Amino acid sequence: MLAILTAYLIGSIPTALIVGKLIYGVDIREHGSNNPGATNTLRVMGKRAALFVLAVDAGKGALAASIPIFFPSAVDPLYLGMAAVIGHCFPIFAGFRGGKAIATTAGALLATSLPMFLAAYLAFIIITYATKYVFFGSISVGLSLFIYSLILPVPGQSLLFGCFTIFLIYLHRSNIRNLILGIEPKINDKSIKKD
Ligand code: G3P
Repeated sequence: MLAILTAYLIGSIPTALIVGKLIYGVDIREHGSNNPGATNTLRVMGKRAALFVLAVDAGKGALAASIPIFFPSAVDPLYLGMAAVIGHCFPIFAGFRGGKAIATTAGALLATSLPMFLAAYLAFIIITYATKYVFFGSISVGLSLFIYSLILPVPGQSLLFGCFTIFLIYLHRSNIRNLILGIEPKINDKSIKKD
């Protein structure tokens, strides 16, 4: 229980919010898509800030999944990584208004299963570049993990990743609404801030 709580608290560190406020003097939640994640950091603060946010947010997932290396824990490292993802999406340190899971999930998978990481994030890259919408790539992370878990079944994982895909769709509901309204920005949107 303590390990899960620690993982949640690690995930709750609001990287994009801190970088925005301390270095750029902006509240990321009031700009672009309002999402405190790496994609919106790219739009609002540029490439360098986005890379930093991506690395730290992924690091949160990897660190949480690595807790058993430092402290013995009976909890599966993947579940600890997922607790960090929940913290990232609903951070106790930022009014429970967090990001959309993708960077922190990457770190959690990198620390637990390279094949699953590759399946999920190759899908992310391919779908994002094919559609030019990051959120399609993001949802494909969950879908590819779900398909992966059906092909190479590990007890409990299909249910976990099925729920995770639904969770991702829920987190991206504003992107889906914007797409229907024709106002969802593409990855090559010219309004992205230059460093
Ligand atoms: O991973 C987040 C991405 O899928 C969407 O980000 O800022 O366009 O809502 P954003």
